[in-house]
Amino acid sequence: MQNNALDILADADGYISCKEIADRLEMNYQTAKNQIGYLARCGYEIEHDIKSGHRLISCPDCVDVRALKLLLHNKIIGKTIVVLDCVDSTNDYIKRIGNSRAENGTVVVAREQLCGRGRLGRSWLSQKDEGLMFSILLKPDMPPSQVSQITPLAGLAVCKALREATGLDCRIKWPNDIVLGNKKLVGILTEMSTEFEAVEYIVTGVGINVEQTQFPSEIAGKASSLLLEAGRRFDKNRLLVKVLEQIEKELCENDLRLTSKALEQYSKLCVTIGRRVTFTRGTALLSGTAIGVDDDGQLRVKTEDNSICVVNSGEVTVQGIY
Ligand code: BTN
Repeated sequence: MQNNALDILADADGYISCKEIADRLEMNYQTAKNQIGYLARCGYEIEHDIKSGHRLISCPDCVDVRALKLLLHNKIIGKTIVVLDCVDSTNDYIKRIGNSRAENGTVVVAREQLCGRGRLGRSWLSQKDEGLMFSILLKPDMPPSQVSQITPLAGLAVCKALREATGLDCRIKWPNDIVLGNKKLVGILTEMSTEFEAVEYIVTGVGINVEQTQFPSEIAGKASSLLLEAGRRFDKNRLLVKVLEQIEKELCENDLRLTSKALEQYSKLCVTIGRRVTFTRGTALLSGTAIGVDDDGQLRVKTEDNSICVVNSGEVTVQGIY
């Protein structure tokens, strides 16, 4: 859906007049003209020809808080949005403000992270303007046991948004990596703080590989970026807006639960289901076939002796992926 001048300019095949933009957005001419001027100040290169109108030449390399505020119309997720040039980790930043008055749905985006963190104590490569790195603060009224349902919902939302925005056949590797073929494009790290058996706040951090052209040798065989896969660049501001819109939609429509509708959609996109997987149980390394995800977001695995194991965290290696 086109709901701002940038969407129209980006989708236009060549020049488009300001009047046409105003008509399509059902706004007056001057407002459309102001939007175009504003976008130019945010770093969008927009050519103007008196006879033909406007044409988008290029997008800024980095996320821009003014552009995000213009483009994002969410009611909760990103209503308060902060863009930092550099931070240790956006998850850690949110943790520092989590128990203050910071609003539910606050989003912190960083152009660069010095200590980007991944699951299982790993680090997350976060070089300047190469990826989208952001964290969302959630302050729901729910027991800690329900938090495991937020993670797959976020994964589902990011996967759907990327499929729509890029046309790539993105899929979910349980619990919430987004992969294309056998390479990882997105990682999600959800953390929570509890107080007296209740959730104080949740941090959902998302890292999307957007513009990397190469990866360190340790992960080169298993990581990729949208640029490498699609062979073209994506506007980081529009992409982030699409992802945040889908996250809000998924969380609200499903009332922060892995409803049967969400679970069905998740399962259809999940590449882990039906594959042979290896996982750890205590000190033992077990393997079997992943047969589904339950409504707490846990992976159900049928092992060699036909028993069903429920896997809720840790590392799961999926045959053919990583
Ligand atoms: C993983 O796949 O291991 C999860 C990676 C999560 C990375 C994101 S980037 C934004 C946020 N800040 C962090 O330090 N980590 C998450």
